[in-house]
Amino acid sequence: MDTFNYRDNLLFCEDVSLSEIAAEFGTPCYVYSKSFLVARCQAYADAFAAHKHLICYSVKASSNVNLLKIFAEQDLGCDIVSGGELFRAKLAGISGQKIVYSGVGKTPAEIKSALEYGILFFNVESESELLLIDEIAGQIGVVARVALRVNPDVDPLTHPYISTGMKENKFGIAIADAERIYIEGTSNLENIKFVGVDCHIGSQLTNLSPFRDAALRVKNLILRLRKHNIQLDYVDVGGGLGVLYDNESVPEVVHLADILIDVFADLGLTLVLEPGRSMVANSAVMLTRVQYLKDNADKRFAIVDAGMNDLLRPSLYDAYQKIVKVNEEEQAGKPLFLYDIVGPICESGDFLAKSRNLLALEQGDLLAVKSAGAYGFSMASNYNSRPRPVELLVNGDQVSVIRERESFEDLVKGESFGS
Ligand code: LLP
Repeated sequence: MDTFNYRDNLLFCEDVSLSEIAAEFGTPCYVYSKSFLVARCQAYADAFAAHKHLICYSVKASSNVNLLKIFAEQDLGCDIVSGGELFRAKLAGISGQKIVYSGVGKTPAEIKSALEYGILFFNVESESELLLIDEIAGQIGVVARVALRVNPDVDPLTHPYISTGMKENKFGIAIADAERIYIEGTSNLENIKFVGVDCHIGSQLTNLSPFRDAALRVKNLILRLRKHNIQLDYVDVGGGLGVLYDNESVPEVVHLADILIDVFADLGLTLVLEPGRSMVANSAVMLTRVQYLKDNADKRFAIVDAGMNDLLRPSLYDAYQKIVKVNEEEQAGKPLFLYDIVGPICESGDFLAKSRNLLALEQGDLLAVKSAGAYGFSMASNYNSRPRPVELLVNGDQVSVIRERESFEDLVKGESFGS
C-alpha cells in the first residue's frame, strides 16, 4: 500500500497535494499519512491473529505524541527506551500494562518512574541492572516484572550500526549466561518476578532466517527454564522487520508471523513484537526545496533546504532513501540526470543522496524524500542552529500540524544570557 501517489503529474499524500502543503507550511517539512499508519496496525493485527500477541510500537522510530495516539487507538502498546519516551507514552494514553522498557542504560529515576506507572515488564540488559531494579522495587514496595534481553549471537545480515544481536554488540545478556541468572534471580531477588524473555537482533532485516535462528535459540532457553520450574508468560522478539526503500525485495509481516507462530505455537506464551521502522517508515515523506544548482568539476549539485540535521540517515549510514520530484512523475523515456542532493550544513557529509538519477531539476523545485517516517524526525537535531521542521499529519483531505516548526527562540530556550 502506498498512500503517496501522483495525480496529473502532482504528488499527493492521500487526498492532499504536497505542493499545496509546501506552499502553506513551508519546507523542509515531514508529512505523515494517517491511513498508512492505521493500515500497518491492521497488517500486524491480522498477521498475528492466530496467536496471543501484543504489538508494542517502538517509540524511537517516530515519537510524536499524535502518532502514538493513533497507535493507542488501534490497541497497540509501546516499547520505550527512556524516561522521555515513557512521558510521551503516558501523554498518548498508553496504559502501563502495554509498555515494555528496553535499553542498556536505564537510570534509577527512569526505573522508578516506570515501576510507578506499572509497566508490563522491563527488558533487562545486564545483571547489574537486574540488581538495581530489585533494589528500587524494594524501596517503593512493588514487585518488578522482568524479562531478560538475551543476546542470541546470530548475524542479522544488516548494516553493522543497526545490528544488535551478535556477541560483540553491547546489547543483552549472553544467552549462555541467561539460564543461571533466571535461576539465581528467582531464588535470591525478592522484588523481581520473571515474566518473559526478550531478544532484538537488529533493524532493517530483509532476510527472515536470522529471526528464525534467534527464535529457536530463545525457545530452547524457555524449555530449559521450564525444567527448573521457571514459567514465563511472554516471549518478546523485538522489532527489526525491513521495509522497502528502493526496489529490494522485503518480506511481509505475515511471513515473519508465520515463522514466529510456527516456532512458538506449542508454548502457550503471549508473543510481544516491537516493530518500529515497519510501522512508520513509508508513512511519511520529507519535503525539501531546491535552493541552488551548481556544477563543480564533473559533479552536478542540487543544494536543498533540508540537511543532515533534518534527516540524518543518508549521512550516518549511507542509507538510500528514494527522492522524487513532487511536480513531475518519472516515466520511461524521460531523460534523467545525475545529481548529488546536498544540504546547507557545513559538512561534506551533509547529503540526502549521492549520484542519483533524477528528472532535470530547476531552482525552486520541490522534492519528496520518501520513506522518511522512521528514524527521520526522531533523529533530527538543531546542528548549525537550524530549527527542526514542522510535522504534519494528513487524514483524507485534512492536514493538521502535529508539531510546529521550531522558532529561533526555541533554539536558545534554556540558555542563559549572562548578567
Ligand atoms: N526494539 C529494540 C530494543 C530496538 O533497539 C529497536 C531499534 C526496535 C525494537 C525497533 O526496531 P525496528 O523495527 O525499527 O527495526 N536509526 C537506525 C535504526 C536504529 C534501530 C534501533 N533499535 C536507522 O535509521 O536505520
